[in-house]
Amino acid sequence: MKSVKSVRNLLRVRDLSPEEILHVFTRTEEIRTGPDLFRDRLSRGTVGLLFEKASTRTRLSFEAGVHQLGGDTVFMGGDSQLARGETIEDTARVMSAYLDMIVIRTFGHDRIERFARAATVPVLNGLTDGHHPCQALSDFSFIRKTTGSLKGTRMVYVGDGNNMAHSLMEGAALLGVHLNLATPPDYAPDPDVFRWTSETARKTGGSVSWVEDPMEAAKGSQVLYTDVWTSMGQESESSVREQAFRGYQINRDLLSVADPDAIVLHCLPAYRGKEITDDVLEGPHSRVFLQAENRLHLQKALMLFCEGKG
Ligand code: CP
Ligand code: NVA
Repeated sequence: MKSVKSVRNLLRVRDLSPEEILHVFTRTEEIRTGPDLFRDRLSRGTVGLLFEKASTRTRLSFEAGVHQLGGDTVFMGGDSQLARGETIEDTARVMSAYLDMIVIRTFGHDRIERFARAATVPVLNGLTDGHHPCQALSDFSFIRKTTGSLKGTRMVYVGDGNNMAHSLMEGAALLGVHLNLATPPDYAPDPDVFRWTSETARKTGGSVSWVEDPMEAAKGSQVLYTDVWTSMGQESESSVREQAFRGYQINRDLLSVADPDAIVLHCLPAYRGKEITDDVLEGPHSRVFLQAENRLHLQKALMLFCEGKG
């Protein structure tokens, strides 16, 4: 499976065109319904996971997915020579010599950009401070499967203008979704991401907009989405954030202004009583555990696409 770099990276959602995203979604459904058809697609391939932050879903869904496609995985946590000052570029060159694809979870988004420039195999973003594209792509494929459509779907994101918000914004813009974001003004999404996504959404029939008030943003929404108030790496800010985000919660009141058939999503891990209440997370509108399962199917399709194998 080792090849020259005609292969594709996925560092952020907008690295793919709308047509490519829809192709991956179609393949996701084929994999979901007939996983045996794809059993040997990554045969003899080795996928490396370089994770500088904690993970449950991303690590396990990639590792299980690679094994189900007939490949092997090697996991490297925070104990690589990177932690002792070896450069990202040297690490990327060496890892490319041993591996066929690399999934990275790290801090600044510039770290994965530098890594990908020096690598010669596909690099997939398993989360950076700036973006979480595998999660967002999986979520849009899940929304499409669950509600039957994406174009024109009304979605609200409540909480922090973080990596998750950025990737959802890029996906919504490319796929024609109407995404309203409600964040405290000091925690609004990156203005560059906002500019690009609002301009792109105009061409696809979607929209990306921001308001301060979660109730206003959630009115009539068919999909309600939230993420943690304090992301990995921001632990020292958690008490300040708990004050700032009070009110930015998915709860029964917020659900009452949404579409009566609205679904509730959360990338997980969830902190009950903070960004979402226990009753909503466990209630009839919640789809969060099916949403988590979908990572496995979508990422298998994504790996095949980035390898040029489907
Ligand atoms: N949603 C998600 O990426 O979960 P993990 O941090 O457990 O990988
Ligand atoms: N915004 C969260 C997402 C976790 C999957 C974080 O970066 O910690």
